[in-house]
Amino acid sequence: MPDQAHSKAAIVTGSSRGIGKAIAIHLAAAGFSVVVNHARSDGEAARVVAGIGKAGGRAIAVQADVASLAEATRIFERAEEAFGGVDVLVNNAGMMDIKPLAELEEATFDRLMGVNVKGTFNMLHLAARRLRDGGRIINLSSSALITSLPGYGAYNASKAAVDAVTRVLAKELGPRRITVNAVAPGPVATELFFQGKTPELVERLTRLIPLGRLGEVEDIAPIVTFLASPESGWINGQVIRANGGMG
Ligand SMILES: NC(=O)c1ccc[n+]([C@@H]2O[C@H](COP(=O)([O-])OP(=O)(O)OC[C@H]3O[C@@H](n4cnc5c(N)ncnc54)[C@H](OP(=O)(O)O)[C@@H]3O)[C@@H](O)[C@H]2O)c1
Repeated sequence: MPDQAHSKAAIVTGSSRGIGKAIAIHLAAAGFSVVVNHARSDGEAARVVAGIGKAGGRAIAVQADVASLAEATRIFERAEEAFGGVDVLVNNAGMMDIKPLAELEEATFDRLMGVNVKGTFNMLHLAARRLRDGGRIINLSSSALITSLPGYGAYNASKAAVDAVTRVLAKELGPRRITVNAVAPGPVATELFFQGKTPELVERLTRLIPLGRLGEVEDIAPIVTFLASPESGWINGQVIRANGGMG
C-alpha cells in the first residue's frame, strides 16, 4: 500500500458493479478512502462498501444520478463530509445502447448522452472547482472508437466527447498540478458489454484482440490506480488504450 495514498479520497462514479467496482476495490486496497457511487443498484453498492470495509479499507456509498448536476453535487458534498476533501475523480459511470442510426430513438440518444457526456461534464465541472491541488482525474473512454463498428454511432460519439474534454481540462487544471487522463478499454466482460450482443458478435469482437480473450475488470483497475498515484504525475492529457492490442 503506497503511504502517499493515506488520507487521500477518491470518487468512483458507477462503482456498484463492473469496471467501476473493480476500480473502487483496487483504489481502497491502495489506501484511498473511496466513494462508491451508483444510480439504482443500492444493494450492490452496499456490498462493495462492506467488502472494502472487511478488507480493512474505508468506503461510503452515495446514490446519485451523475446526469443531474444537483445529484452529482451531492456526491462531492458527501465525500467532503466523510473524508475532508477529494483528491481523485474516476468518471466511470456509463451506458451503452448499440443500434443503427436509422433505429436510434431520441429518448435513447438523450439518455446515453445524459450519462456518458453530461454526467462526465457535471463531475468534471465540480472537480475543477473542488478537487484538491495535485489531484487526479481519470475518465473512462473506449477503444470502440478505433473500430467504428455499425451500431456504435451514439456510444462512440459520447466517448469522443470524453476524449476531447480530457485534453482540454488537462490544460485548464495543469497550473494546479491536477492531471486529467482517460483510459480506453477494449471489450471487457461486464453486464454493459454483453447486453444486446449475440454470441456471434461477442466472438467477432474477441477475435479482434491479439491476446485472444476478452478483457477482465482486473485488467483495467490497476491502470486506473496507477494514474491515480503520485508516480503517474508526468502523464497528463492522454487517452491510454487498454485493449490487449486491438489497435
Ligand atoms: N465493458 C466494456 O467492454 C467497456 C469497454 C470500454 C469502455 N467501457 C466503459 O467503462 C465504464 C464502465 O463500464 P462497465 O462495463 O463496467 O458497465 P456496467 O457493468 O454496466 O456498470 C455501469 C455502472 O455505472 C452505474 N451507472 C449507470 N448509470 C449511472 C448514472 N446515471 N449515475 C451513476 N451511476 C450510473 C451503474 O450503476 P446502477 O446500476 O446503479 O445505475 C454501474 O455501477 C463505462 O463508462 C463504459 O462505457 C466499458
